[in-house]
Amino acid sequence: MTPEPGKSFNDSQQNSSPTEDIIRQISELEKVSLNLEPDVAFRNEISTKASSYVNDYLDSLANMKAYVDGECAHLKSLKVGDNPKQFDDLLAILKDEVNRVGINSSSGAGFAYVPSGGIWASSVADMLAAATNRYAGVYFSSPGAVIIENQMIRWLSSIAGYPQTAHGNLTSGGSIANLTAIQTARDKYRIDSTNVKKAVIYFTGHAHHCIHKAVHILGLDEIIQRTVRMDSEFRMDSDNLEEMMLRDVEEGLHPFLVVATAGTTDTGAIDPLEKIADLCEKFGAWFHVDAAYGGFFMLLEETGKKFKGVERSDSLVMDPHKGMFLPFGVGAVLVRDGKALLESNLERASYMQDALGYDEISPADSGIELTRHFRGLRMWLPLHLHGVNAFRTNLREKLLLARYFYGEIKDMGFETGPEPELSIVLFRYPGNDKERVNKQLLDLIRVDGRVLFSSTTINGEFWIRCAIMSFRSHLREVRLALDVIRENVKKVR
Ligand SMILES: Cc1ncc(COP(=O)(O)O)c(C=O)c1O
Repeated sequence: MTPEPGKSFNDSQQNSSPTEDIIRQISELEKVSLNLEPDVAFRNEISTKASSYVNDYLDSLANMKAYVDGECAHLKSLKVGDNPKQFDDLLAILKDEVNRVGINSSSGAGFAYVPSGGIWASSVADMLAAATNRYAGVYFSSPGAVIIENQMIRWLSSIAGYPQTAHGNLTSGGSIANLTAIQTARDKYRIDSTNVKKAVIYFTGHAHHCIHKAVHILGLDEIIQRTVRMDSEFRMDSDNLEEMMLRDVEEGLHPFLVVATAGTTDTGAIDPLEKIADLCEKFGAWFHVDAAYGGFFMLLEETGKKFKGVERSDSLVMDPHKGMFLPFGVGAVLVRDGKALLESNLERASYMQDALGYDEISPADSGIELTRHFRGLRMWLPLHLHGVNAFRTNLREKLLLARYFYGEIKDMGFETGPEPELSIVLFRYPGNDKERVNKQLLDLIRVDGRVLFSSTTINGEFWIRCAIMSFRSHLREVRLALDVIRENVKKVR
């Protein structure tokens, strides 16, 4: 019931007391508010339709394109209104525009950037986490949710060979994870306005750009930044790092932080972690490893040894939404001295006083966010449902697929980058006018859309990247990629 225009409920109920009026108004509002709590029939109808849409989507993925050019016309014209809309209409827009146009990140034929696929079990976990809406920020609020988050952190720490004293945080992705690590280093070394101009950070030209962003966000623009030379395989040249650190000490500067990458985005190269660990120890610098892309290859014996020295790092980033193929939205930062992470993030507030007094560490105290999505569940559920071996096997398959692609593309007469250290291959069509020709080839392949690659520029030269990291990429998709290249290279002028 709504009052007549221009009248309040009060006016229309002349004889009742103010309290009765309020109660009447509340009761009327409640009837409408309950629209946000649909009954089981409505929930069943919507979730059955959503689930059937997802199943159709996943079942037809193998025949979908990896990239589709297009418009989002309906979406753009759809206005937020006061009244409800039909689920079928909204789902249709999602289907025709959002999930059809652009990069199909769930496709196994996507080899651009760092694909992962997004395993289905995590979407179920996300639904469970959202529907039950447990508050995963503090232990008091949801002991179970926080235990799950912390178990995931301990499992990741064990992969890296970190001690029991390590701790970490599940973040939204690698950028925030790297930011948190550098923030912890800054605070541990007490870098502030009095000493920032004498502190030095070292990385190669292939460090991910989120590191530069983090330096800026953390107020460290005035810090000295050194770009260390790379060897012919695009790994950090530790001799050059040592020379730089020595010179800096001689000049009265403070080698504060070395950022190594274990699996660079450009080529998948792993910096020499053991040697860098030695240098960090020698010069007392914080040793950070960005293994956002490469980290889960530590699960394999054959690639695990390439990460030797990571266990000596002070902090480490590995992204489950890359190497564990989870849907976008979960990264992880680990800090060997868990206390340093907590000290860097600890803040108290009177309105949070009821949440104190528990032994288990709360995510709100080990990271930037207070209220956060219960991310641990999207990792915990698939890990338990499938077991670690399923992930290990998938990673091993990706490694071999990259090696296969590398051999085949070479045999097709293409120029290649270094033999893939992990699962990224650089290639380009040889000859004169390489940049123009390869840009054209990349564009032809994008327009074709059956598979997708991305490009990068290394030492001023254009390369096409093939990153094999979706759990849905198998021999069929890699062979398709080779066929698509074969077909399109003929069209290049
Ligand atoms: C090595 C590396 N570090 C950090 C990131 C940033 O991670 P995110 O995109 O999850 O923020 C990426 C992303 O590709 C990466 O490859």
